[in-house]
Amino acid sequence: ALLTPSPRDLEGVKVVVSAGPTREYLDPVRFISNPSSGKMGFAVAGEARDRGADVTLVTGPVNLPDPPGVEVVRIETALDLRDAVVGAARDADVVVMTAAVADYRAAQRSDEKQAKVAGDVTIHLTPNPDILAELGAQKGERVLVGFAMETHAGVERAALKARRKNADFILLNYPTREGTAFGGDDNEVTLVRPDGSSEDWPRLSKREVARRLLDEAARLYAERRG
Ligand code: CTP
Ligand code: CA
Repeated sequence: ALLTPSPRDLEGVKVVVSAGPTREYLDPVRFISNPSSGKMGFAVAGEARDRGADVTLVTGPVNLPDPPGVEVVRIETALDLRDAVVGAARDADVVVMTAAVADYRAAQRSDEKQAKVAGDVTIHLTPNPDILAELGAQKGERVLVGFAMETHAGVERAALKARRKNADFILLNYPTREGTAFGGDDNEVTLVRPDGSSEDWPRLSKREVARRLLDEAARLYAERRG
């Protein structure tokens, strides 16, 4: 489908986007991860760039080339994602967390490959920092956007997350919607605000979801700046 040209409404606005999965290493050759494709975050970065924003994209390992005109930072672990995003967010106006951050990492990452043993093994995991919550605690005038995938009570849970993390809104998705979310080119999301109000968007290309996301972020940004 033909897209109408992007407005240059983000000229001079600094946007930071996180994308993709993180990898939490157990030893040098094994890690815990998830199937995030990075497509949603790359779409946000590309759309923000086309609208004139100064864009930094912090991404976990994905099969996507660097978008031209965007500063790309490639990381693997949640701890590295945190350092890169928090650093880039210092002078940012809008931060969009599409990254599927692993909630846990190995409490002890072995420097040597672990040989198998007879019988069951137990892996001790420790929580990763919550990057969106950290940004929310130091929010200033920034607009903060999160994503969430829920199997049930989506709007309620997403609103609770938005409040807990001090995010302006969360785009909620369900894993059961075929062709959307992990790996798909489309997404079907519900915009959820901290006050529990929500808007269902139709099934759209990830680029079109990015466009609407940035419309909402730009509106909030303008409102905040007066
Ligand atoms: N997020 C983050 N840092 C984390 C985990 C999540 O910044 N350690 C961000 C995600 O990028 C996303 C939002 O928080 O934008 C919601 O992620 P989600 O996994 O749904 O939230 P959790 O608080 O981890 O809740 P759950 O227990 O449902 O996994
Ligand atoms: Ca999580």
